[in-house]
Amino acid sequence: MKLGVNIDHIATLRNARGGSEPDVLHAALICEKAGAFGVTTHLREDRRHIKDSDVETIKANIKIPLNLEMAATSEIQKIALKVMPNSCCLVPEKRMEITTEGGLNVAGQINYLKEYIKPLQDKGILISLFIDPEEKQVQAAALIGAEYIEMHTGSYSQAKGEAQEVEFQKLKNAAALAQSMGLKVNAGHGLNYQNVLKMKEIPNLCELNIGHSIISLAVFEGLETAVLKMKNLIS
Ligand code: PXP
Repeated sequence: MKLGVNIDHIATLRNARGGSEPDVLHAALICEKAGAFGVTTHLREDRRHIKDSDVETIKANIKIPLNLEMAATSEIQKIALKVMPNSCCLVPEKRMEITTEGGLNVAGQINYLKEYIKPLQDKGILISLFIDPEEKQVQAAALIGAEYIEMHTGSYSQAKGEAQEVEFQKLKNAAALAQSMGLKVNAGHGLNYQNVLKMKEIPNLCELNIGHSIISLAVFEGLETAVLKMKNLIS
């Protein structure tokens, strides 16, 4: 299983002072050095953390893949076509949310998304859809021709005890269904040292995208150590 590190919150910290520290590219290069498979950034419509220039600078300077999380809007599509990330992960975006709440409703906008991803795919950008582990969303993702789904692990991460097992089974079933339909499967949101190991029980999961816990732990452990430790845990 590969590790993609979401470095948005390096930018959150930087923006708190409005200057250039901590440097987002520096973080991306440390993740690369520590053996991360890729770097993920979410260019939100309100630019609350990652900014356009961050995405451009990171793409120009890292050797590992850049995964761009984005809302399916024409503004961000234009930027993606200019920056040419290796993959785009389409997520729902609400202005007032603290983080991405819930998965993208692919089933409710099949025709729109099919058209939306075409120019990106034509340029060789891989498409991932961030969805809840639900049958109808998986089927819709296969229907529109995405290469990947990224299963939202937020409900699993927040649940405790038996409820967590129920959420885990939803992820396992959704992954199996997606794979049977030819989709590759990633997962992410809310994963940390405690709840990540269970992901190994889902066969053929490609990549985990993890941000908040790694950046938080980096405050105490150092980013390199945090990335290495997570990588070793899941590999
Ligand atoms: N994957 C997607 C699509 C996300 O939106 C996020 C949060 O930005 C993550 C993964 C990472 O979640 P976390 O920061 O909780 O690890």
